[in-house]
Amino acid sequence: SDSLRALASKIDLHIGTAVVPYDLDNPDYAKIAATQFSVVTPGNEMKWQVVEPTQGTYDWSGGDRLVQFAQQNHQLVRGHVLLWHNQLPDWLTTGVTNGTISDAQLRDLLHKHITDEVTHFKGKIWQWDVANEFFTDDNPSQLNPNDFWISHLGTGVIADAFRWAHAADPKALLFYNDYNIAGEDGTNAKSDAAYTFIKQLVAQGVPISGVGDQGHLDTQYGFPTKMTDDLQRFANLGLKTAITEADVRTFVDSPTTQVPTDHLATFAQPYEYSQMLQACLAVKQCISFTVWGFGDTDSWIPGWFTNEGYANLYDVNLAPKPVVADLQQDL
Ligand code: XIL
Repeated sequence: SDSLRALASKIDLHIGTAVVPYDLDNPDYAKIAATQFSVVTPGNEMKWQVVEPTQGTYDWSGGDRLVQFAQQNHQLVRGHVLLWHNQLPDWLTTGVTNGTISDAQLRDLLHKHITDEVTHFKGKIWQWDVANEFFTDDNPSQLNPNDFWISHLGTGVIADAFRWAHAADPKALLFYNDYNIAGEDGTNAKSDAAYTFIKQLVAQGVPISGVGDQGHLDTQYGFPTKMTDDLQRFANLGLKTAITEADVRTFVDSPTTQVPTDHLATFAQPYEYSQMLQACLAVKQCISFTVWGFGDTDSWIPGWFTNEGYANLYDVNLAPKPVVADLQQDL
């Protein structure tokens, strides 16, 4: 049957995956990455920690390798990520902590980082995740005041990051990216706060092109039913939307025990993946649906969530799970 990529291209949707560039040495992995997906994103290799491990010394090798793979396979690239509190280089965080980097210097370093990285990849990146995860689940109604960047440089740093990225590559689509901002919590408080903030950026003329919902779901909580509405609401601001890091975690010991027995179908992994894709399909401005890795061995979940895993579309032997056929059906 037709690949996800081929089916999606007929309806102008891009299907993407996060890739670990050195895994492309495995021909089975490279083949799936090339044939099933029309856009790739580096899971880690464009993060500040990786691109500038020592101050002033850049290492673009992982990102360059992925860009080259994408060009060979006629794929687009989602760049990830320019402004985020995680995976910062040690020299930067240590310098801030011990006072050798002042806030004014931090701002200059960030400006330089964004300018240099976007310039290095200029013309090769379709969408950049400019800013990532500025809201929390614990205090969902406002930009996180304790965020590393906000606490040092104020909330205006987010708008500045978009302006700096735009100056360096005016043609790249610039995204705000976060988790649980499309229908994913009971009160919808985080989605509402993100919406209010993004609306302000648009009103201020900040060069933002889109909003990405990461889409890290879990069989324990089920599918967030307002996802379509929340994506549409961002789209109605004149923005594009995307699902940027989809996966659906299951419980390793007994994948179904956490699921209420009357919900086995609707809380199941294939159902949640399918609903998430359908939410994107229902919103015309949703331009890409990206999974956060495709093989169960190539997943961040076991390292970050105790007792959870098997979150991806392909199993540990890189054989497609039945969910792949469900997604082909949806397309
Ligand atoms: C994850 C990577 O997949 C892991 O390899 C790394 O150890 C931690 O980061 N949200 C994001 C991604 O925006 O950058 C994160 O990626 C997963 C959560």
